[in-house]
Amino acid sequence: MKIFITGGMGYIGSHTCVELLNSGYEVMIYDNLSNSNVKVLERIKVITGKEPVFIQGDIRDEELMATSMDGCSAVIHFAGLKAVGESSQIPIEYYDNNINGTLCLLRAMKKNSIYNLVFSSSATVYGDPLYLPLDENHPLSATNPYGRTKLFIEEILRDVYTSDKNWHIALLRYFNPIGAHSSGLIGESPNGIPNNLLPYISQVAVGKRESLSVWGDDYDTVDGTGVRDYIHVVDLAMGHLKALENIASLGCEAINLGTGNGYSVLEVLRAFEKTCNKNIPYKIESRRVGDISSCHANAKKAKELLEWSATKNINDMCSDGWNWQSKNPNGYE
Ligand code: NAD
Ligand code: UD1
Repeated sequence: MKIFITGGMGYIGSHTCVELLNSGYEVMIYDNLSNSNVKVLERIKVITGKEPVFIQGDIRDEELMATSMDGCSAVIHFAGLKAVGESSQIPIEYYDNNINGTLCLLRAMKKNSIYNLVFSSSATVYGDPLYLPLDENHPLSATNPYGRTKLFIEEILRDVYTSDKNWHIALLRYFNPIGAHSSGLIGESPNGIPNNLLPYISQVAVGKRESLSVWGDDYDTVDGTGVRDYIHVVDLAMGHLKALENIASLGCEAINLGTGNGYSVLEVLRAFEKTCNKNIPYKIESRRVGDISSCHANAKKAKELLEWSATKNINDMCSDGWNWQSKNPNGYE
């Protein structure tokens, strides 16, 4: 079975390609390399012993996509811009890339009579939680253009399904993916100063940055710092495999992919220190604008519908993340 993977050269996409290839799927990666490196292809080949087909192209190029996906039976749609702060500075780019890109993809899929779609949504669609753990029925909201693109795309996909029940669509709402493949050959390689916690901690550990700024220690949490549901990227990749295996039994379903456990910034920091056996300097700063206090998933629906649940704990996430960072201090550069 051949799967068309938009954004397959990126962080989550590359890990998913590895798991798909290891499970006997063929993959066709479609990516414009705007936030990834062509070296990923060779690394995937080393890990799996198989060569994924790669086409460099933009998801807004409907014609190229339509011809490229010929012979595929399903699409996993990772391609998109994802930086929250940047999305407020260049919202037109975000709406065009993420929403217009998705519309082009849907038209290309229809042309090829491909009706199976797995979409990368995010826990960001829950906004500031009204209750925890977050289940899929929690009201949706967004506070920035990036979050709104995910929210709008989910709505578009629900409308598409309502109009034509031939579609099978999994809206996978990821919590906070971290870690890397255990080989240390693929991992997260952010451009410039990382916004997210784990890449920042790893860069301090490897000596690229001086100290971590902890954004707030006055939240109503175990130690006052923000709590999140961190999930190992390989567990997340396996969630996509399970979504594909079960896609025929789904209509249009939103499904959380999280562990169900929350860890504070300082708890993650301590776990990482233990893994790398180093002291990681940090400073407490004021809260980051737009941050929520706590967030973790109710992961029951994924278990019921996909027979999927996360298997790796915070120590696995830190040790695989550190293995990747220490072997590739400058990412793919
Ligand atoms: P990433 O930036 O590493 O990967 C995205 C890939 O898409 C990149 O390789 C990039 O080059 C490609 N791309 C972007 N725009 C494109 C376009 N117009 N045409 C073709 N290719 C394009 O990001 P990631 O962390 O792997 O995230 C994958 C998806 O998951 C994104 O949609 C993201 O919004 C979503 N998501 C990510 C997280 C996270 O924390 N990483 C959390 C929730 C949801
Ligand atoms: C952020 C995005 C979210 C996106 C997710 C995954 C915001 C407001 N939200 O979520 O939309 O889906 O990334 O890409 O940007 N922290 C520090 N110091 C740092 C970095 C982070 O203390 O240098 C803290 C944060 O305050 C938070 C936790 O670490 O409590 C996790 O932060 P981060 O990794 O940025 O993820 P989210 O804020 O959950």
